[in-house]
Order: sequence, then C-alpha cells, then structure tokens
Amino acid sequence: MQTLISADRIQRRVEELALEIARAYRERRPVTIVGILTGSLMFLADLIRRLDLPVRVGLIQASSYRGPATAPGELHVAPELLPDVRDHHVLLVDDILDTGQTLSHLVDHIRALGAASVGTAVLLRKIGRQRFSVAVDFCGFDIPDQFVVGYGLDFNNQYRQLPYVAVLGKQEESGVRNQDSGLSHD
Ligand code: IMP
Ligand code: MG
Repeated sequence: MQTLISADRIQRRVEELALEIARAYRERRPVTIVGILTGSLMFLADLIRRLDLPVRVGLIQASSYRGPATAPGELHVAPELLPDVRDHHVLLVDDILDTGQTLSHLVDHIRALGAASVGTAVLLRKIGRQRFSVAVDFCGFDIPDQFVVGYGLDFNNQYRQLPYVAVLGKQEESGVRNQDSGLSHD
C-alpha cells in the first residue's frame, strides 16, 4: 500500500494541533473531548496525551452504512457512552471529514444536549467531498479524494492499527471484500 502520511508526520502535526487546541480552550471550563468511535481512536489517544489542559474524555459511536460505492448512507448514532455534556465546552474529534454528514449531525446533537459550545477537530479532510455544512475548527491534513486507511481508519474493519495513513490499494481492497460483506464506515 502507498503511504500518504508517515507516522512521523502524523505525530508532529498532532503535537501542533494539541498546542493550538490548548491555546483556544485555555479560558474555557469545563472541557469535554468527545471521540467519535471507532475511527478517532488513535488520533484521540495521541491528542489527549499531548494536551496541556484539564479535560474530561467521552465517546460516541456513529456509523454510516453504505454500499460498495462511497455515497453517504444512513447515519446510526449510539450515544450510550456519552457523559452529560450540559454546560460543557465540547470538542468533537473524528478521524476524517468526508461528506460531513457525521460531524454536522453530531454537532447538532451535542448542541441540543445543552453544551456551552461545540468545536470540531479532524485529522484528515478530503478535498471536494463535503456535502453537509459543518465548520472544522482544527484540521490535521487536507488530502485528495482517495480512500485511505490506517491510524484508526478502516476498510471493512481492517488496517486501523497501522501507525501511518495509506491509500487503499486495489489488491488489498479485493482481498478484504472477499472476506466480508456488509460495509459500514465508522
Ligand atoms: P462523513 O461522510 O464525513 O460522514 O464520514 C463518515 C465516516 O466515514 C468517517 O468518520 C470515516 O469513519 C469514514 N470514512 C470516510 N472516508 C474514509 C476513508 O477514506 N477511509 C476510511 N474511512 C472513511
Ligand atoms: Mg469515523
């Protein structure tokens, strides 16, 4: 597979983002960082370890079910792991902004729960794919419209463990497709 962003570059950028976020949230209390499962796992873990800020960490799961094509499907949200965010400054953390469906929906959801503010941070943003309007406050890298895996991002639940981000090759794609059927993105 072709590496798009090396592990070193990711770590350096996450460090910069942690500094920016700490600066932006210095005056705000209390702060809850909410990771969107499952793709944000690595980014969330690396980011909060570098964040010089008192924060609480929460999780929410969101997955969109899609066919083999990359059109957005119906979004399913499982809020059971989310703590009470009323009056908290919430920063939503996700692996990638693609169509924007997940983040725009979750921003509305967290606002409706009474958060004091809702910010967004993504490791990656795909150029030319956004269809749902959502403001991204912190972004690691803008990438071309290619399907990527690694550093939390999966294809059919494979490749999340890679420490770098790679473009999914045709060979890997057909290998994983043959092992599994229902495609969901989270
Ligand atoms: P959305 O279209 O912005 O709602 O993106 C939904 C979710 O799709 C993201 O949180 C990712 O989990 C997943 N996704 C989008 N593009 C990619 C990709 O290139 N690789 C792996 N997962 C992706
Ligand atoms: Mg995701």
